[in-house]
Amino acid sequence: MSQRIKLPFSNRYDYAYSNKYYHRHKKGFFKRFSNGLEQRMLAKALKMAGVVKVVLDLPCGAGRFFETILKAGCEKLIGGDLSVGMLQVIKEQFPAVLLQKIELLELDAAHIALPDKSVDTMVCMRLMHHIHDPAHRQVMYQEMRRVARHSVCVSNWIEGNYKSYRENLRAQKNGEKSRCFDPALLEKELEAAGFKVTAKVDMLPGISYWRTYVLQV
Ligand SMILES: C[S@@+](CC[C@H](N)C(=O)[O-])C[C@H]1O[C@@H](n2cnc3c(N)ncnc32)[C@H](O)[C@@H]1O
Repeated sequence: MSQRIKLPFSNRYDYAYSNKYYHRHKKGFFKRFSNGLEQRMLAKALKMAGVVKVVLDLPCGAGRFFETILKAGCEKLIGGDLSVGMLQVIKEQFPAVLLQKIELLELDAAHIALPDKSVDTMVCMRLMHHIHDPAHRQVMYQEMRRVARHSVCVSNWIEGNYKSYRENLRAQKNGEKSRCFDPALLEKELEAAGFKVTAKVDMLPGISYWRTYVLQV
């Protein structure tokens, strides 16, 4: 099941924004520290996923997780993103020796232009907390399940920690809904899409809202 979905947030990632995004996680102690923790979270999740020879990283953004995925034992890496700006930044910033190992494709997470079961594991970092409509999330989860033959590692913002408390305050102040998910409801959605939750890796338990789910398809 797949369909065209237009998400207003997707339009934000033009070339200028993508270039800034590439540099953002390398700047300053706190950004580098939190990037390190996020890389460690994904490395743990990939280890738990177990089968990572062929991996799709979607959305790959500016390629922040490529080295972690390759280090986990990936032999064929596909980096997909809807933004041509992001893909352009990768081509400009990454060394040729690394680019040789990666196939870059313009892909939409709601309609992934790849055949069924084309990768062992799909990685999806920092996308789902932007998807507010449960029906849209279901379409994306089903697409992940369709293209992966073994597992999916997907990150999201969850309730029950210091950062989610801060996010709730921010949302209240602006008259918005918090973007953090009740883990029980999130897991129901994942199960409704046909996944089996095999592991949960928290970036910094009790402090950070980032969690990566390891899902069996
Ligand atoms: C916050 S960035 C995360 C990128 C990367 N995973 C990371 O953590 O560095 C969100 C990314 O989602 C991409 N994106 C937005 N809508 C998308 C869609 N429908 N399909 C695929 N990628 C999309 C954007 O272009 C952007 O690169």
